[in-house]
Amino acid sequence: MNLTVNGVAHEVESGPLTSLLDVLREELAITSPKAGCEQGGCGACTVLVDGVARRSCLTPVASVQGTEITTVEGLGSPSDLSPLQQAFTHHYAAQCGFCTSGMMLAAQAYIDGGGSDGHEAIQEAIAGHVCRCTGYVKIIDAIAAVARGDEFDLTVTASSAGMVNLGGAV
Ligand code: FES
Ligand code: FES
Repeated sequence: MNLTVNGVAHEVESGPLTSLLDVLREELAITSPKAGCEQGGCGACTVLVDGVARRSCLTPVASVQGTEITTVEGLGSPSDLSPLQQAFTHHYAAQCGFCTSGMMLAAQAYIDGGGSDGHEAIQEAIAGHVCRCTGYVKIIDAIAAVARGDEFDLTVTASSAGMVNLGGAV
């Protein structure tokens, strides 16, 4: 079976019903999609399949043959971070990082779909993504910043610049 991940074609040996999550992590050593609940409930395993956010733990690998799969490694590189990666850094929107990859890919699908900086719409876009660390406020701030087209100085965090939203958990 052939699988294209982040623009690179791979020959995959796993069985057709193996989850995409297991193929990415165990066979291809692409470890940003995380194995959280493995039941579709937490969002940590989310990847983009032809630009659509999908739970890779519930996706048999055979069903995504011939598609373009994107993981967070495909959004940008350490020397050339994508706008969302910059925003998550600037807004301090990742703590332990377990949910971050899935959050970013759900956010990327939202941004690519023309999503606004409205907090309610963003909450809807990341509904079903569980973060046990951040309280969601900074994640929503980061996504809103990208939707607005903000530019980021990564030598300064939003918090140190006095821009942090102290409005409490949402
Ligand atoms: S690991 Fe897939 S949704 Fe939780
Ligand atoms: S940053 Fe730790 S679970 Fe979200």
